[in-house]
Amino acid sequence: YENLEDKFIKRLDDMFGVKDCLIEVNPGKCILPPKYKDLGERIRNMEVRPDDIWLVSYPRTGSTWAQEMVWCICNDLDFVKAKSMLGQQRTPLLELTAIMGNDTSKFKEQIGNSVEQVENMASPRFIKTHLPVPLLPEQLNEVKPKIVYVTRNPKDMCVSYYHYCKLVHGLQGSFDDFCDLFIQGKTPIGPIWDHILGFWEQRDKPNVLFLKYEDMKKDLRTAIGQVSRFLGKTLTEEQVSALEDHLSFSSMKKNPALNLEPILAMMEKPALNDTNPDETFIRKGKVGDWKNYMSQELSDKFDKFTEENLKGTTLVFDTN
Ligand code: A3P
Repeated sequence: YENLEDKFIKRLDDMFGVKDCLIEVNPGKCILPPKYKDLGERIRNMEVRPDDIWLVSYPRTGSTWAQEMVWCICNDLDFVKAKSMLGQQRTPLLELTAIMGNDTSKFKEQIGNSVEQVENMASPRFIKTHLPVPLLPEQLNEVKPKIVYVTRNPKDMCVSYYHYCKLVHGLQGSFDDFCDLFIQGKTPIGPIWDHILGFWEQRDKPNVLFLKYEDMKKDLRTAIGQVSRFLGKTLTEEQVSALEDHLSFSSMKKNPALNLEPILAMMEKPALNDTNPDETFIRKGKVGDWKNYMSQELSDKFDKFTEENLKGTTLVFDTN
């Protein structure tokens, strides 16, 4: 990630007024803030523990949802603890310090360095990251801890990411322009297909579970069973029901440990438009919301984008 694409930076800045979030680009690989440089090497070289549980995903794929499921299953469904500690304390986002850029808020102060936070955690560690395969710790391949990878159909992912970038980065462009950047792989974190296929290729490894948002939506009970088996845990029917309740969209939306509201309130960011229901971290939770945003032409463009990139693979997404 040495190469700076000045044109791109300018374009983002002109179009969205993104100030400190998207500066460094490794074309075709990853788009991360300049601060990432300070952390990248440390992340690549960090010690991985065999009993770590990793949750890897592109942003806006339901990773908070899946991560909460993983944490609860591995912590005897301790909902009291789950509700009393922020997600970032229980299951830190590894690269958070870099993503927060120049933010000097109380929250950043509290978290300190997110990589250091993960390094200092007691085992078993629950670690979340949006980094793509080439930027993950090298030791993941040798140590082989359990890794859950979550993904989602690109149309809904893009709609969700658009709202997230407005909420967190004060993005000020049109949805159509954002789609253009998303398809070009020029949104934060970068191209989606390298990210998704990087783990799709590893889906048969015994330490990897590949999950789709649409499957969790269709049948959360089955997803809980699948994740429990992967983690070597057995839950009773009653426990599954209790977990289903804790993970329901309505519970999560009002749960301050997960809905990011306490964190957003501490961060330096544009004032929220409280009357806009889309300006929330846990927003709509639907499959097919793209239909409320995309013209036929744009939808066709996404279908083509997906078809071309998934050609030769057996990966498919539900979009309805
Ligand atoms: P929407 O913006 O489409 O509503 P991530 O946690 O990876 O950033 O993903 C965020 C997306 O997951 C958001 O999608 C959010 O609403 C959705 N989500 C979070 N919790 C959910 C739940 N319990 N049920 C369904 N969707 C959920």
